[in-house]
Amino acid sequence: MHQHIIIEPFKIKTVEPITMSTEKQRLEWLRKAHYNPFLLTSDQVIIDLLTDSGTSAMSTAQWSAMMSGDESYAGARSWKKLEHVIHDLTGYPHILPTHQGRAAERILYSLLGGKGKVFISNTHFDTTRANIEFSGAKAIDCPIEQALHPSVRHPFKGNMDISRLEKLIREHGAKNVGAVIMTVTNNTGGGQPVSMENMKAVSALCKENKILFVIDACRIAENAYFVNHRETGFEGKSYKEIAQEMFSLADGCVMSAKKDGLVNIGGFLALRDNELSDACTNLLIITEGFTTYGGLAGRDMEAIAVGLEEVFDRDYLRYRIRSTEYLGEKIQEYGIPIMLPIGGHAVYVDAKGLYKHIPVEQYPGQALVCALYRIGGVRCVEVGSVMFGTYDERGTLIPAPMELVRLAIPRRVYTQSHVDYVVEVFQEIAAHARETKGMRITHEPKFLRHFTAHFEPVP
Ligand code: F0G
Repeated sequence: MHQHIIIEPFKIKTVEPITMSTEKQRLEWLRKAHYNPFLLTSDQVIIDLLTDSGTSAMSTAQWSAMMSGDESYAGARSWKKLEHVIHDLTGYPHILPTHQGRAAERILYSLLGGKGKVFISNTHFDTTRANIEFSGAKAIDCPIEQALHPSVRHPFKGNMDISRLEKLIREHGAKNVGAVIMTVTNNTGGGQPVSMENMKAVSALCKENKILFVIDACRIAENAYFVNHRETGFEGKSYKEIAQEMFSLADGCVMSAKKDGLVNIGGFLALRDNELSDACTNLLIITEGFTTYGGLAGRDMEAIAVGLEEVFDRDYLRYRIRSTEYLGEKIQEYGIPIMLPIGGHAVYVDAKGLYKHIPVEQYPGQALVCALYRIGGVRCVEVGSVMFGTYDERGTLIPAPMELVRLAIPRRVYTQSHVDYVVEVFQEIAAHARETKGMRITHEPKFLRHFTAHFEPVP
């Protein structure tokens, strides 16, 4: 039989009920949450596409490995197992476990950062930028030009702009560049992959200028899928071999295992350099825990060790990338403009394109986030001027380059009928697009404002 449909390559053994609700209930809950879905409780949500981070369903193999977790303070068996798996994958000699990705970022970037330093990335994720800026350093995004245009197709829209990178290094002086960071896939830029060719070019530039090259590897398995399918010369390689080759081009990585580690908590920092690793280890012990557990329980390390191998499974990755693509293709049929091509872990809706009548100062992305929740109980996050907007001295908004809304797909959690339901909600969104109102901020914190800001609809 020629098989067209790609089925979920797993059976469901444990289920978690979804609490259903009415539009009237949701409108009230949304008001109480100040129109910020981060402030809703999870049982007020029907389909939760807020993040693919820490929301994976674990396999039977992971759950059973957890039972053999060794909870010893030092030298736990579970740590040895995890260290072996990460070493085999990355090739880096020094591996530091952390409780999640940003803990690895805080350790590394607080040591490399500080006033006068700059970091250059294809796009810094929000916690990456926040950790860098908190140290007093500057974070500069350097994606290729095509990355900033949602409708422009490019097979590797996550790539770094090499000539601009060269210019930036010259401008700031190589010794002032704390690190060059490649985020794979590029989350904030639309979940877009980075090609091996681009990695090689960045790696060469960093070597030439003696600049540390770090991979933010939290979705490197998904990135490997795209390299295998889109880049010449990689058709015959396994997804894991492609990831291994990528790691070989850099000096180290930070990884939030909450994504392609297929777990609910965990992360690590891995490095080649002895001295830098020693300095990081000091900070690790002060702030996360001893070197053989970081901030993790032995059972967490067991689950990550299994997850990091399962994620490279051919059938899993094919299902994973195809199911994201399915959602994107279906909502496009209703005229919803999205970031193209469709990325790995999420579909990014172009809210500026959908709500042309809402000015960026009234946050079209936040308006869409609220409409999706009100109409269908679908929760997602704005990735636009709420997340990345800043103000000039006069308090005028400097908007983000794009106003996107991210529909992130938790791994192995939702079935095709859940996704079809989200598609139905979008049908309604499209039908009422012109009546949708903009939003304004009524309260905001200094850092990472999207998490806790309050909003209200513009009358
Ligand atoms: N880097 C990237 C590219 C990320 O996407 C994230 C987290 C982190 C670092 C930080 O890792 O959460 O384990 O501390 N992204 C989540 C998201 C929060 O929803 O995209 P963490």
